[in-house]
This record gives sequence, C-alpha cells and structure tokens, in this order.
Amino acid sequence: MRIAVIPGDGIGKDVTVEAVKVLKAVASKYGKTLDLEHLPWGADYFLETGISVPPDGYTMLRDQFDAVFIGALGDPRIPDMRHARDILLGTRFELDLYVNYRPIRLLDARLCPLKDRGPKDVNFTVFRENTEGLYVSIGGRFKAGTEDEIAIQEELNTYKGVHRIILHAFEYARARGLTKVCMADKSNAMQQGHALWQRVFRELSAQYAGITATHYYIDALTMYMIKDPGQFEVIVTNNLFGDIITDLGAQLQGGLGMAASGNLHPGKTSMFEPVHGSAPKYEGKNVANPVGAILSAALMLETLGLETQARAMEAAVEQAVASGNVTKDIGGKLGTKETGDFIAANIPS
Ligand code: NAD
Ligand code: IPM
Ligand code: MN
Repeated sequence: MRIAVIPGDGIGKDVTVEAVKVLKAVASKYGKTLDLEHLPWGADYFLETGISVPPDGYTMLRDQFDAVFIGALGDPRIPDMRHARDILLGTRFELDLYVNYRPIRLLDARLCPLKDRGPKDVNFTVFRENTEGLYVSIGGRFKAGTEDEIAIQEELNTYKGVHRIILHAFEYARARGLTKVCMADKSNAMQQGHALWQRVFRELSAQYAGITATHYYIDALTMYMIKDPGQFEVIVTNNLFGDIITDLGAQLQGGLGMAASGNLHPGKTSMFEPVHGSAPKYEGKNVANPVGAILSAALMLETLGLETQARAMEAAVEQAVASGNVTKDIGGKLGTKETGDFIAANIPS
C-alpha cells in the first residue's frame, strides 16, 4: 500500500507524526507493509517556492497512491488561504472525492458537554457533499474595495452530485443494518437549489423500504443535535452545512481534537484528515490532541480493506481515552507525543 502523507501546517504537523507512528505500529504488528511517502506541500513550501501543488500533483496522488493523509492546512502568513485551497479543496475537487464521511462517535460520557448523555446517545455519521454547493467559487466581485462593491457567490447543486451523495448515505445505512437517514437542507428559504435536494431525497427514500427517511431544515437539525442526538443514525447534507454541523458534532465527541474524516470516491484514491484545522497558536507545543488524526488514519485503513487493523487502532484509542492517557483538552495530562506513544504501544494483536 502506498500512502501520500501531507502534514501541512500548524498542528497538522504535530498530529501527523503521531498518526504515522500508530500506522507503523499497527503495520508491524500485523505484518503489513505501508509505504508512507511524505510530501512537503504546505505554507512553508508555498512561501519558499511559490508552488502550492505541483503541476502534476493531483494526477500523481490519484495514479500513484492508494490513499492520501493530510494533517491540516492554514497559516496566518497566507490570509487568502491560496495554498490551502489548492491542496485541500483542490484534492477534494480534482480527485472527485464526493463523499465527506464524518463519523460522530462519543467514546466516553465524560467527554460529552451534554448533561446525562453517553456513547449510546452520540453515535451517528454525517455524509457531507464534498464537490459542489457554495464551495465551487462560482461568482465574483465587481467594484471590489469600493462602496459600490457587489460580491456574488453561487451555490451549485447538480442532479448527479445530489443523487450520488444521498445514494451513498442510504447504501451506507443499508449495508450496516441502520434504519434511519435524515436529510438536512434549507429548502424553505433556498427554493431553487434545495428543491433539488428535496426531489432526489424523495425519489431515493422510496427505494429503501426498511429505512425511515426524515427531513429537517438545517437550523432545526442543529437544535436536535443538542436536544436529542440519539435520534440520528445517518445525516446527509450539503457541503457548507456539513462543514458547520461536523464542528458541532466534534464538540459532542469531546472537541475538535477527537473528530475524524474521510474524503472518499468509493473505489478510487481517497483522502483522510482530522476535522480540525491547523490551530497555529498550538503548533509545536506538544499540546494538540492527536486522536482525530489517528482515527482518520484508522478510517483510511478501513477504506483500504484493512478492517482488522483499523479496529485495532480504534481499540487502542479507546483504551487511551478510558484510562485518561490523553491530552489536556480532554482531561488528560499527556502531550501530543506521549499520547501517540501510548496508543502505538497499546495496539492489540
Ligand atoms: P482550528 O480547528 O484550527 O482550531 C480551533 C480551536 O479548536 C483551537 O484553537 C483549539 O482550541 C481547538 N482544537 C482544534 N484542533 C485541536 C486539537 N487537535 N487538539 C486540541 N484542540 C484543538 O480552527 P480555526 O482556528 O478556525 O482555523 C485555523 C486555521 O486552520 C485556519 O487557517 C483555517 O482555515 C484552517 N482550517 C483547516 C482545516 C483543514 O485543514 N482541514 C480545517 C479547519 C480549519
Ligand atoms: C474542513 C475545513 C475546510 C472546509 C476549510 C479549511 C476550507 O473547515 O475540512 O472542515 O470548509 O471544508
Ligand atoms: Mn470545517
């Protein structure tokens, strides 16, 4: 297996070291070879060379690697996020990674900010459409910088794009014996683009007899995620709403340091990254929680068909959380590195 590793910026670099450490530990325990190739793409490289992604970069990722792992991107020296857009959003778009797979799973009741809620109440998956919506940069600014400025940012919704993500959500539910899929949009206010989501959701729900299909407007969904998260099994929504509700979901799991994600095109080279960003103020301080990155690496192994190894990584993370061998943000006393060491040392055979 050949994996491209892009640590990126800020704490992305810190947590990637730990994810790689745990990947190597699990590979050696199970006698697998993971060929991990580091790519220097990120803010420093961009500032030095002017290159965010080399001309053949996306093709190389797609054709020469089985998966891509990214730490995080974002650096205050590049306020327009030019490099991050190319590396992160570019990879999502160019590799057509239309499924943003973001499991929301609470590992220990202690970590949940909600009163009297535990792991059985916070255990669902968000599928975020990952190649369309408001992220396509269609629009422009007219008379920029003047009092007459007009800024237009269009939301793209295609039948193909909406269909494939909602289909993926239903198929995921069916394959796992789940019985509830909830779609969230804002079709009461966005009566063009989100009418398409309504239509496709109705069409597809009719084909899944054993699955209860519900719909919430996105504002109500955020309310229910706090009031009664136990009602959810699978949530499917658009690109921007999915971005927002997965930071909310991360908090239900104990914070941004806990949340994992996969950017998938089923059957093709996919990309895995923690949900959090580069948190520049914590870079190099040995405080960032590496769990989200390590669980993202586990999602990568799961997607590559290495289920046993993925479960072993998750079990080691669960042990770290249960025994308090974790970072301060989730109540532990360890640093980033020591947490990674503990998890790597506790991979079950
Ligand atoms: P952020 O996720 O970097 O950090 C927000 C806060 O969450 C931090 O201050 C910290 O308190 C907490 N946090 C995040 N990750 C943590 C971890 N691993 N351990 C402990 N605490 C953690 O979000 P931001 O401050 O909005 O963004 C910083 C930069 O990262 C920006 O440039 C932003 O665009 C970028 N960003 C990148 C990604 C990505 O690469 N996927 C995702 C989100 C934000
Ligand atoms: C995420 C991030 C990105 C997004 C940013 C950095 C562009 O917030 O992966 O959740 O909005 O998709
Ligand atoms: Mn986000």
